[in-house]
Amino acid sequence: MPTLQVYPTSGLIMPTLQVYPTGGLIMPTLQVYPTGGLIMPTLQVYPTGGLIGPTSTSLLHTWADRSHFYKSTPQFLGIHFRSTYFLFEGKEHAKLYAKYRPSYPERLYRRIKEYCMESDANTLDLAVDVGCGSGQSTLPLTSICKHVIGVDISKEQITAARKVSSNVDFREGHAEDLGFQGDETVDLVTTATAIHWMDIPTFMKEVSRVLRPGGVLAVYSFIDDKIHNNEAHQIVWEEFQGKTLRDCWTEKRKHIVNGLSLIELPFEETLRERLNVERHIDIESYVGYLSSWSAWQTYQKKNPDTTVLTDVGHRLRSLYEDQDSGVVRPISLTSHIILLLGRK
Ligand SMILES: C[S@@+](CC[C@H](N)C(=O)[O-])C[C@H]1O[C@@H](n2cnc3c(N)ncnc32)[C@H](O)[C@@H]1O
Repeated sequence: MPTLQVYPTSGLIMPTLQVYPTGGLIMPTLQVYPTGGLIMPTLQVYPTGGLIGPTSTSLLHTWADRSHFYKSTPQFLGIHFRSTYFLFEGKEHAKLYAKYRPSYPERLYRRIKEYCMESDANTLDLAVDVGCGSGQSTLPLTSICKHVIGVDISKEQITAARKVSSNVDFREGHAEDLGFQGDETVDLVTTATAIHWMDIPTFMKEVSRVLRPGGVLAVYSFIDDKIHNNEAHQIVWEEFQGKTLRDCWTEKRKHIVNGLSLIELPFEETLRERLNVERHIDIESYVGYLSSWSAWQTYQKKNPDTTVLTDVGHRLRSLYEDQDSGVVRPISLTSHIILLLGRK
């Protein structure tokens, strides 16, 4: 295990990180020096003795995910330091999210509302959407709940979310610290395609604290797509997702791969449901969606000159383009969503 040294100084938001892999080691010594008012960290990696590789934030991700970084990393200055922060912080990444992330079907929110209303204390005054990203999962809650708060760790995602809605209170914050809400004040907590990034036990404790008795936790996630054209499915899901990006997915993806089956809600009454969504989507939008994957962001940082995703786009186009008319048909696919529901 590495040595972790943390020197909090002068009340900052994010630290400067220095990683010094030395002498044939696989695990580096990590030194964290928060200094001088930074918002984003400076990461410096000094491989010596021909090791580990060039300066790279992804090295830190890989290392952090393989070690028990989350558990061993302290909370200092009241702030949880999380490596996943980096994966969603970029302004460009937030724009990709806002433009290309798929929306969730209306019937998902009808189902959540129906479940909320099954209890005796069936009010839906306040919902909190945690890991709200640029708001795709938050806006639909306004149709089932009077007041909605969206929370995300990423400033850029919150900035993007605020642009799309003024009737939601979007705020930067951590799933693991919902301190802006008092005990037993929330009717519904949701988290959409985000739970796998969180420190799950700490998040569940916070959810149990803020939910009122009878309140509901809804955890849901897109898990994968089945493209109806087998060749296209092979290009995107077997080759691009499974092979090209294989080393760029963090260990947290296991929750998606396992269809959220490793996640347990801390309540006696829980349900697990699956929804299939049929979609027809143009190639540019689907490739845009692929580009919003965190693993693609990591891959691009490692391979700045890559044309892999452009090539995927060309190959898809040649499959869906009618040779005579030149018309490009949309991709037909089934997206799978897993929904976990629990009542406090
Ligand atoms: C895959 S996106 C999902 C966004 C949105 N809910 C959706 O369904 O489109 C995951 C989001 O979780 C946020 N996130 C990751 N770790 C978090 C944490 N510990 N606390 C709050 N948000 C977090 C990321 O910044 C990112 O916006």
